[in-house]
Order: sequence, then C-alpha cells, then structure tokens
Amino acid sequence: MSRTVAVVGATGAVGQEMRRLLETREFPCDDVVFVASERSRGKRLPFRGREVEVRALTEPDVFDGIDLALFSAGGSTSREHAPRAVAAGAVVVDNSSAWRMDPDVPLVVSEVNPEALDDLRKGIVANPNCTTMAAMLPLKALHDAFGLRGFTATSFQAAGGAGQKGIDELAAQVPVLHEHLDLLREDGAAAAKLVEPSVHAKTLAYNVVPLLGTEGDNGYTDEEMKLQNESRKILGLPDLAVSPTCVRVPVVVGHAIAIRAVFEHRVTAADAISSLERFPNLVVDHAPTPLEWAGRDEVAVGRVRVDLVDDHVLNFFVVGDNLLKGAALNTVQIGELLVERGVC
Ligand code: A2P
Repeated sequence: MSRTVAVVGATGAVGQEMRRLLETREFPCDDVVFVASERSRGKRLPFRGREVEVRALTEPDVFDGIDLALFSAGGSTSREHAPRAVAAGAVVVDNSSAWRMDPDVPLVVSEVNPEALDDLRKGIVANPNCTTMAAMLPLKALHDAFGLRGFTATSFQAAGGAGQKGIDELAAQVPVLHEHLDLLREDGAAAAKLVEPSVHAKTLAYNVVPLLGTEGDNGYTDEEMKLQNESRKILGLPDLAVSPTCVRVPVVVGHAIAIRAVFEHRVTAADAISSLERFPNLVVDHAPTPLEWAGRDEVAVGRVRVDLVDDHVLNFFVVGDNLLKGAALNTVQIGELLVERGVC
C-alpha cells in the first residue's frame, strides 16, 4: 500500500523537526506534501535527497490523496483545516491546542497512553502541550508504582516554545542588553526598556518572566490550565490535584519543570529511581539542564528527592526538548503507532 504524509506548518520550528524526523526515522511513506501559508508557497524544502515544493493550505485540493496529516500551524488553522483533511480521507495528528480537550479526540503521549488510539471517531489525534508532555513520562512511571494523587509544577520554558518567532525575539534582545551590562545591575527596569517585546510578555534576555499565556478569571494562564486539564485526560485521573506555575526563561530550546508529586503510597528515592529508569525514553540524569538535553529524543529526570517531612511526596526535576518529544517527535511517534495499527 502506498502512503502519503502531509506536514502542515512545514516551514515552522516544529514543522522543520517533523520533516527531519520523518526522514531520519525512515517513516514508512512513499510521498510527502509540505504545506504552509501563502507566504511560503513555492519555497523548496529538502526531503530524501530531492526538493519538495511547499503548497499553500488554501489550495482546495491540497489534501487529496493524503493518508496522514501532521499539523503544527497554530490552533485556529487546525480548527479550520483539520476537518478538511479528515473529509479528504486523512487521519490528522494535531500539535496545536485546538482539539486536545475534545472528548471525541484522543490526547496521546506515545509511551504513556497509546491505548487511547483505539477510539478515533473524529479521525483526529491531539498531541499534548510541550510542558505537560515532558512531565507525563516520569509522572506515569511513578503513578504506576505509588499511585499519583496530585502534583505542584513550576515550569522553566524555553523561548522556542513560542515557535521560531520566540527564538528570534530572544536572540535579538541578547546583544542589545549585553551592551549595557552596568544597567542590568543598576537600573534593570531601564535595561528592560531597551527592547520592545512582542512575542514574550516581558523582556526575556537576562530575565525570567512569570507570565506565559493568557490569564483567565481564576488568575491562572491558559498554559497553566493545560497542565491540569491535559494531565488529567492523559493519565485518566479526572480528580488529579494539579497546582501549576509556568515561567518563560531565556533558553532557546528545552523546557524544564520542577515537580512536587504527592502519592497514595510511601515513596523511597531508590524505588522511585528504579521505576523511572525502567520507563521507555526516560533517562535518569543527576542534574539535567535544557541546554544539555536540547536535540535529544529522551526526556531527562533528575534531582530525585523524598520530601523532608512527608514520605508520600517526591521532588524531582524534568527536562525535555520542547520541539522534539514536546512536539514533533511525539507527533511522528503517534503517526508510527497509527501505521502499526493499520489505521493509515
Ligand atoms: P509560514 O512559514 O508560511 O508562515 P512557527 O510555530 O515556527 O511560528 O511556525 C508556524 C508554521 O505554521 C509555519 O510553517 C507557518 O507557515 C504555518 N502557518 C501559520 N499560519 C498559517 C496559516 N494561516 N495557514 C497555513 N500555514 C500557516
């Protein structure tokens, strides 16, 4: 059977990784179609030793003959165009937040809940939020061992979580502020005003920004609410108590999360580490950093410590490449599972 895969958002930061992974993982397909906005129409992108011309999403026949469509072009684009791809006969794996909480759409981390792919009634599979994704691997490993009741998470999220434009904004700010190192110490507010942020909520270079996403009525941002809502859906724990704080940090790629997890059963560091070590695509590293884990497929977990007063509580630090496991890799892994299951 011949198989054609479309990458929608092929020119973006995640799309670029998807194209690379389809090639390096030798994804079983005979042809690819690369799709982006009108701006990129006609641009040529390499694939398996040839050049593929980018098509515009607005072309009426762009999904004709597509078996699997991997979307990473933003929520509104997915909401509008994923049903078009399904109507044309494709199964969609969507990296945006558009479909994640739809009860008829499975939300899948390939190592954690692949069984959710049994129910594909809408023809769409959602890929979780990048921070939630990284947290799910250790939390699932520990849940299976000790029974997870809830967790408090503080994220340290890279600029690249906001796409290429997020990286570009940080990279442009660094040299401007670097020219004024004295001001960084003497009048930080004036230093922050040397640049005008538009992607990140505040100046990100030489800074830490504790506001990521749009604040809701309860004071939590949409990014923080994803950590609660998506974790509950993926782990099948509707009452899971989640206390999230999301922070943007001046890192190019790689999200980190400090997690305090509460369990039904007593935990020991040795048992926790042995559960974490056994989990697929999860690596125990003493003190993982986003820089050292950028470009790597696995999620890293370290600083594993039992709470100082409560032996049902474990503290640990998780790091994952937000463009790889946090986005493109899991999308492609879901595609591989769909092929294995004979769905597309
Ligand atoms: P384009 O490069 O043509 O703008 P990133 O997350 O790195 O910003 O990338 C976003 C990706 O989504 C890009 O490939 C971008 O294409 C694509 N994209 C954004 N908006 C649209 C749209 N309305 N229609 C099709 N593709 C879009």
